[in-house]
Amino acid sequence: MERSRAGSDINKNKAMVEQLKTYGVITSEKVADVIESIDRALFVPDGNVPYYDSPMPIGYNVTISAPHMHATCLQLLEENLQPGMHALDVGSGTGYLTACFALMVGPQGCVVGVEHIPELVSSSIQNIQKGAAAPLLKEGSLSVHVGDGRLGWPEHAPYDAIHVGAAAPEIPQALVDQLKLGGRMVIPVGTIFQELKVIDKNLDGSLSIRDEISVRYVPLTSRDVQLQGV
Ligand SMILES: C[S@@+](CC[C@H](N)C(=O)[O-])C[C@H]1O[C@@H](n2cnc3c(N)ncnc32)[C@H](O)[C@@H]1O
Repeated sequence: MERSRAGSDINKNKAMVEQLKTYGVITSEKVADVIESIDRALFVPDGNVPYYDSPMPIGYNVTISAPHMHATCLQLLEENLQPGMHALDVGSGTGYLTACFALMVGPQGCVVGVEHIPELVSSSIQNIQKGAAAPLLKEGSLSVHVGDGRLGWPEHAPYDAIHVGAAAPEIPQALVDQLKLGGRMVIPVGTIFQELKVIDKNLDGSLSIRDEISVRYVPLTSRDVQLQGV
């Protein structure tokens, strides 16, 4: 019974990838492989349809982002998620994208998730332990921490790739400082109207910033404000 349920879920995850390819969201084989190997059902709370292309509530007034947004961010960061590189996932939530990043950079790389809700950090670790990135968590190349992601995670900086999973009113300077020369950050910026910004740190330290798409994310804020639902 359990085996056949798991088998059909894997097929549904694969079907989700095929659909994202059909719609042109996924064009990279590497990104397709990674999304296919991390079953989304392990990260979406029971009672939701994990493969449906929509954000889903995960408690604490926040959501797991939609599959097309995860795929878009992975594609935007692909060149900066090569084996051995360092990546930071701010607002790591369920740990889904953190696990995908870890598969991209492999055991010689380093991926850090930072999330300010301790309960989400605990559940994300449990989620990751059930899937393909579990060995990387065990070996220590992947770690998830409780913290204010607006401050980044200096210990493993500088990062080749920084992803921010919540919308900042402005680009946090600490994250810019922790981006490597040649590194890329993908971050939603704005309040009511938000743009997904792609920020490249050039080799001379200057920044090239462009807007990728308009988006709607929960805010990058303090824990108290988030829990009040303001
Ligand atoms: C839209 S959710 C996305 C989570 C994750 N990317 C996923 O898909 O599961 C945004 C996350 O950012 C977290 N967050 C918001 N502000 C934060 C902050 N200042 N520091 C760390 N995490 C924060 C929220 O708790 C939430 O888990």
